Amino acid sequence: MEAFQHKKKHLHCEDVDLAGIAADAGTPAYVYSRTAFVTRFRELDEVFGGIEHLICYSAKANGNLAVLQALIEAGAGIDIVSGGELYAAQRAGADPRKIVFAGVGKTTDEIERALRAGILFFTVESGPELDRIAAVAERLGVVGRFAVRVNPDVETDTHDYITTGTSRNKFGIAVDRAREVYVRAQDMPSVQAVGVHMHIGSQIMTPDPYVEAIRKIIPLVEELRKAGIALAYFDIGGGYGIRYDGERPQAAPQFADAIVPLVEPLGLTLVLEPGRYIAGNSGVLLARVEYVKRTPSKTFVIVDAAMNDLIRPALYKAVHRIVPVENSTAKTETVDVVGPVCESGDFFAKGVVLPALKEGDLVAIMSAGAYGATMGSTYNARPLPPEVLVSGRSYSVVRARQTYEQMYANNVLPSSKRVGK
Ligand code: LLP
Repeated sequence: MEAFQHKKKHLHCEDVDLAGIAADAGTPAYVYSRTAFVTRFRELDEVFGGIEHLICYSAKANGNLAVLQALIEAGAGIDIVSGGELYAAQRAGADPRKIVFAGVGKTTDEIERALRAGILFFTVESGPELDRIAAVAERLGVVGRFAVRVNPDVETDTHDYITTGTSRNKFGIAVDRAREVYVRAQDMPSVQAVGVHMHIGSQIMTPDPYVEAIRKIIPLVEELRKAGIALAYFDIGGGYGIRYDGERPQAAPQFADAIVPLVEPLGLTLVLEPGRYIAGNSGVLLARVEYVKRTPSKTFVIVDAAMNDLIRPALYKAVHRIVPVENSTAKTETVDVVGPVCESGDFFAKGVVLPALKEGDLVAIMSAGAYGATMGSTYNARPLPPEVLVSGRSYSVVRARQTYEQMYANNVLPSSKRVGK
């Protein structure tokens, strides 16, 4: 199913005209297809149907409560990285026994909240973190379940900023050091080893690095079993790539075909943490053309969305297709599509060929469902844009546009308190 398609003259999300949403919610606005989110989730769930598995959707990709709720209703667990995401998962109705908690810097407060919630497990990224979980669990009189995040030291062919599974990265514990963490934990009554975890990076196009990493981790699992430490979960993280503009990611069935035969003989429940795979092509950023600025060397299409709304092009040189909402027979021209923010990095596309656009036209910045709204900021004092969730013929504004008052609500003018004499 294509969630975003031209029907008659206009680009639609499912059965809703994006021009109608723009008129109602204003621009810039994120627009999501509920059906697309759920379909992508079900697709993965199905291809891994032959093995005991749990899909924990990675909330950092798109953490809107309505999105989380849709996936939770479809059966998803949630992969969280902060107290804020724990709060969101709980608000959206997640089963705590389907929540996994990753991240290299979990605070005492976050650990305490997760223990009280009764999450499935923490992925432990260092020895000191295990000690802290044990101390907090002991204080609360509970047992903290954990999986060591193993850093398998494999290379992936992706942007350096989103590679996580090499020894250069801050993540996880090397395979040969992980064993001692599990062994040490045996003498700690307030923690229990339940699994092993890896996450090797993001926007990965083939199963090969997963296969390589899993092969490196299997001997550890077997060794632990011999030592009497029986794990229940093998969490392979997320990172499965999607098509932004012409890429050819491995299809889900082939991905499963490569992974399942490796994990199945171990008798462990497979945990997956997809974010982008589910969210990426389930949303667009809708923007309106403010000006077309022609200079002797270039034509700039200046839209009302900016790098604060979608930072991926500026941060990773990510390519997002730009699609005019209205079908046009206008002559094409080569343009840069840019935002109004005061930085040259504030662009969405450079040197793209589009039908000539004019002031007031709408464009959709495609594949913005993952790491769009969640990475947004209010830079240049630009309020966070609304998020709209479409389902069939209907839609709801599931996050309202931030007001100026809300944006400054926590700013306090000093009341000039004196310290000492
Ligand atoms: N699990 C863990 C432990 C992670 O750190 C991540 C993402 C995921 C799962 C989900 O990865 P995914 O399936 O979405 O690739 N902001 C970047 C991506 C950063 C990914 C960080 N970790 C981007 O816009 O490309």
